[in-house]
Parts: sequence; C-alpha cells; structure tokens
Amino acid sequence: MRELFLLSDDMIFLNHGSFGACPKPVFKAYQDWQLKLERQPVEFIDQSRDFIINMKRVRIKLAEELGARPDDLVGVTNATEGLNIVAQSLKLEPGDEILTSDHEYGALEKTWELVSNRTGAKVIEVEIPLPLVSEPAFSKVIIDAMTERTKVLFLSHGTSPTALVFPIKRVVDEARARGIITVIDGAHVPSLIDLNLNDLDADFYAGNCHKWMMAPKGSAFLWARRDVQTMLEPLVISHGWIPQSGGPEQKGPFGNSRFIDCFEVRGTRDPAAWLSIPAALEFMKQHNWGEFAKHSDLLARKTAETISRLTGIPLFGSPNYCAPQMVAIPLPECDVEDLKRQLYETFSIEVPVFRWKGHCILRISIQAYNTKEDVTRLIEALTKILKL
Ligand SMILES: Cc1ncc(COP(=O)(O)O)c(C=O)c1O
Repeated sequence: MRELFLLSDDMIFLNHGSFGACPKPVFKAYQDWQLKLERQPVEFIDQSRDFIINMKRVRIKLAEELGARPDDLVGVTNATEGLNIVAQSLKLEPGDEILTSDHEYGALEKTWELVSNRTGAKVIEVEIPLPLVSEPAFSKVIIDAMTERTKVLFLSHGTSPTALVFPIKRVVDEARARGIITVIDGAHVPSLIDLNLNDLDADFYAGNCHKWMMAPKGSAFLWARRDVQTMLEPLVISHGWIPQSGGPEQKGPFGNSRFIDCFEVRGTRDPAAWLSIPAALEFMKQHNWGEFAKHSDLLARKTAETISRLTGIPLFGSPNYCAPQMVAIPLPECDVEDLKRQLYETFSIEVPVFRWKGHCILRISIQAYNTKEDVTRLIEALTKILKL
C-alpha cells in the first residue's frame, strides 16, 4: 500500500490524522484538474460555463457518502474555514452563552474567543470526565450545563487532543429541543467514522475530506440544515452573493439556492482539490478500503494497549469511544518537544507528541500504508527514550 502513496520512504509516518496523505491516483486526478484549468481558464472558472456544473457534481457524490442532500453542503478550504463561517455569522449578544467542551481544537477555541470579544457572548467550557466510558456520562455534563442563556453548542465529533469520538446525538437532540444552535466540528470524521448528516440533524457541521477520505488538501465541506442556511453569510463577498430576502428556497445569481451560490462563487480560485473528491471516493471503493481500515484500527488499538501496559497509564476512553485508527496515548511526564524531536531525528518516526491539560500525549494514526514493523519501531524507540 505504501507504494500507492507519495509519502517519502525515509520515515515511518504515524501521523495521518493531522493532514492526511493523498494516494498517487487521487493526486494525479487533482493535477489533471489543474491542467484542465490552465488549458482553458475561462471555460473552467467562468460561472456561466463549466464551474457550476463541476462543483455540483461533487456535491452530489459527497452528499451520497455523507447521508446528506447535495443542496445542503458547500465546498470550503478546510474545517476551520467552514466553522468560521458559522461562528462569525451567528447573531449573538451580551448575556448569551456558547457551550463547548475542554477537548476542542485550538484554532476553533480562538475563533469562539474572537466571536465572544466581538459580541459579548460568553464561552462556557465543560470538562468531559475522563476516561470516557459511557454516553450518559458525556451527555449529562453537557445537558447539565445548558441554561436559558445557552445559544450555541459547539462540539467536536472526533476530538483532536484525545482522539475520542464524542457520542453527540443525544445532546444535539436536546439542544434542538431547547432552541440551542448546534455547531459540530467533524474535521476528522469523513471516512473515519460512519456519518449520516441527515440523521444526526445538527444545525451546522464541517468536515475535512483531506484527512481520512484522502482527497488533496483544500477539500472540505460545510453542511447546514436547510432551515438554518439563511443564518449564514460568507466571509468573502463575491459574485455569488445577494442580499438575504426570503427563505432557503431563495435563488442565487447562478441558479442554485442563495446558500450554494454565496459560498461556491467566491472569487477566482483553484477548485481542483474539491473536484478530486470523487477520485478519492473511487480509490477507496476500488481498494475495498473498509478492510484496510479494520486492519489499521486493530493495529492502532493493539499498539495503544501495549504502550499503555508499558507505562501503566490508562487510555482516555473505552474502545467504544476511541476513534478508529487513531489513538491518543497518555505518556509519563516528559519533555514532549524533546521526545518528538528524538523520535523524528533519531528513529525517523513522524508522530505528534504534545501536552494537553497536564497530560503528555502521543497520538498515533494507523493507515493502510503502515505495517506491524512501523509500530514495533515506535514501541522500541519509546522504550529506549522513556526507559519504560
Ligand atoms: C477537531 C479538529 N477540528 C478542526 C481542525 C482543523 O482542521 P483544518 O486545519 O483542516 O481546518 C482539526 C485539525 O486537525 C481538528 O483535529
């Protein structure tokens, strides 16, 4: 499998989770789109020609994969952008509360901090009890923190520092019943965790296709439930924008809904990454990726259990709540920067090591291109460096 990826072969790559890795045939499709663009830029980019049709084709394919309607999702560059669109569109005021967890991704914590500074709304961060072993334990702390001031619930579906899958369905439903807007950060989720956006029925959801779906960087989506699409304004105003005047059925200037046109047409840009999403889906189908994912998941879990046994430190969640293929492993107290450097420079292992809430954490990701030898090398290196 490693042969099918562009990853340099002078390292062991255990960090698919950060930015993904694009298989060669998918990258080729990406470059083919870019060549097509440069051969006839007007035909390709002009909204009256191919652009609208090409973009829509991908929405249809991706929506099928995600259990969504093609008109409820738009392409964005990354999950951060998608979530910024939502956070910066919401009408909040002093006294309002944005409820969130203590496992959120740093860039999004900053986003809500800015929103809070601008609007006077307060961010309320709930501590999720660890280890995460049951859905009720998770839902209870979130639901208990909901008040009449709570206007927004912002949660990761798959968490970054702890690589947990938050069981979000019940809190999303509860928020809906109370009129609280749910904004879900699904950066890791597409092609990692089963996702049906219609069934989840949150208000807003953003996900990356460049991580576990293995599309090129720059391919992500923002999904918005039909009846809340009118709440959103793009961060960049371009030809696709028109003033809001009516419901979600309001047409935009290019024949789609206003929601789609506003976000799809946002200045001259290269949409090749987005257009390569069908190639990534096809690649996974052709290679029966589900089987590779199962093997990778098993290897990830075994590796995490082995390291946990060596350190005597338990993992952050029971197997049901640990993300597939990606495990955050708490380590004994150490200099995380030095450990990361030694793993890379001495043992040629690319793997994230960081500090989160007083824990030293190693987060391994296992993808089809990883082998048992890769994790054996990791365990040997950790044993040596940390004297386990
Ligand atoms: C939970 C979570 N949210 C958001 C992001 C941001 O993703 P991006 O940089 O692609 O926008 C990440 C990145 O790893 C993440 O783990």
